[in-house]
Amino acid sequence: MSDIITFNTETQAFGQPIFKCSGYGLGAMVAKMQEPKVLEIGCDIGDTTQFLLDSNPHLTLTGVDPYVNYVDWNGNNLNEREVVYERFTKRMSGYKNRFALIREYSDDAAERLLDNFFDVIFIDGLHEYDQLTKDCANYYSKLKEGGVFAGHDYNAIPGVRQAADEFAAKVGKTIQITESDVWYWIK
Ligand SMILES: C[S@@+](CC[C@H](N)C(=O)[O-])C[C@H]1O[C@@H](n2cnc3c(N)ncnc32)[C@H](O)[C@@H]1O
Repeated sequence: MSDIITFNTETQAFGQPIFKCSGYGLGAMVAKMQEPKVLEIGCDIGDTTQFLLDSNPHLTLTGVDPYVNYVDWNGNNLNEREVVYERFTKRMSGYKNRFALIREYSDDAAERLLDNFFDVIFIDGLHEYDQLTKDCANYYSKLKEGGVFAGHDYNAIPGVRQAADEFAAKVGKTIQITESDVWYWIK
C-alpha cells in the first residue's frame, strides 16, 4: 500500500470537519484534564498527535515512532516513511516544547521513559497481536494510577482485540470502547 492514503488523511484533517482521526475518542477526555502528559505510540503523519495537542492547550505529548518502512498487520507495505517523517516534523514544529518525538521502535523507547509519568497512553503502532502484547506489558507501568490506557482498532483488527482483551484480564480491567474504535480503561 502506498502512503497516499495517509496523506489524504492529512488533507482531510485540515480541510474537512467530518474527519475523525484514530484518537478522536480521547478528545473529550483530555480536554477536561489539567496539564495532561500524553504518550502516543505510532504517530504516522500526525493526525491524532495534532488533534490531541489542539484538544487542550496545556497538554504535552511524547510520540514514539521509528519512521522505518514496515509491513502492516494486513500485509500492506508502508513505504516512504522518511517522507512521512519530514511532513510530520514540519506539522509539529509549531508546538515547540509541548511535543517531543522519540524516533525509535516502541520496544526500545520504553527504556527511556519514567514509570508513573503519563496521564494518557494511546497505542497505535504496529497492530500485530505480539507487538501490542509487548507494548501493553512494556508501557503499563509508565501510566499513573487513574490514567487512561488506550489504543486503536479494537473492532477492526482481531489481533488487537485479542491482545487488548488478554492484557485487560491480566490487570483486572474491563475494556470500554469509544468513538473511532478506541479501546481504553482507567488504571
Ligand atoms: C496506524 S499508524 C499511526 C496512526 C496515528 N496514530 C494517527 O492517528 O494518525 C502506525 C504507525 O506506527 C508506526 N510503527 C510501526 N511499528 C512500530 C513500532 N514497533 N513501534 C512504534 N511505532 C511503530 C508506524 O511507523 C506508523 O507511523
